Amino acid sequence: MSISTVNLSSGYGKLRVLFDINISIPQNSVTAIVGPNGAGKTTLLNSIYGLADVFEGRILFDGVDITRFKPYKRARLGIAYVPQMFNIFSELTVYENLVIAGYLLDKKELKERIDIILDLFPKLGEFLHRKAGTLSGGERRMLAIAMGLMKNPRVLLLDEITTDLAPIIVKKVLNTVIDIKDKLKVTVVLVEQYVRRALEISDKVYLLVSGRIRFEGNPKDLENSELAKIYLGL
Ligand SMILES: Nc1ncnc2c1ncn2[C@@H]1O[C@H](COP(=O)(O)OP(=O)(O)OP(=O)(O)O)[C@@H](O)[C@H]1O
Ligand SMILES: [Mg+2]
Repeated sequence: MSISTVNLSSGYGKLRVLFDINISIPQNSVTAIVGPNGAGKTTLLNSIYGLADVFEGRILFDGVDITRFKPYKRARLGIAYVPQMFNIFSELTVYENLVIAGYLLDKKELKERIDIILDLFPKLGEFLHRKAGTLSGGERRMLAIAMGLMKNPRVLLLDEITTDLAPIIVKKVLNTVIDIKDKLKVTVVLVEQYVRRALEISDKVYLLVSGRIRFEGNPKDLENSELAKIYLGL
């Protein structure tokens, strides 16, 4: 397992959002986290990245207990996070955004990394020297994901990267998620509102409802279950 939690309860300040969460994210898989608004999906990613308060339980990364590690330390271990309100620098070019995201790399690594990323997102190459603020919604998502990948992570946390995109662009963005897993061998944890499409590309799924796990397992099984009707509107 790359990432797992053991009896995790977490939230913010005194507020408990997640209760007794046990997840295990298999290496080199896409694992989807789905559930209604406010279920705690973002909080789960925040917890994995060190941005929430842990009240009970543990978070393990490759068997190492990272529960008390600061975010930068988790980043160094190989976890990257593209948050729901992702940040790109609109006034800077696409290239400059990538360089900032790769600040830990030396010159040679930086060039290699950018080459790998442009291989994966050929479109970014076409507007490498345009200001990021001029990109379309879909292109911005690609850039945000590319910035996450600049750190050469082993695990990539993606929070609703397809919000507000047209269906055809959603498909494109989610297809790159498959490439990220297959070509870069990165383990992906995907929070998605386009549930049907997310289930299609996932190896495993967790359904989160009111801060608790209601389903764990095969995406097909969830899709065909009563739970999908009740909580996901499928
Ligand atoms: N920084 C914060 N401080 C206090 N409470 C928060 C914070 N972030 C989220 N919450 C609360 O935690 C609960 C779960 O929120 P969370 O963002 O994890 O849900 P979600 O499943 O990601 O929802 P959505 O699908 O709308 O993104 C909500 O009640 C929310 O108001
Ligand atoms: Mg959220």
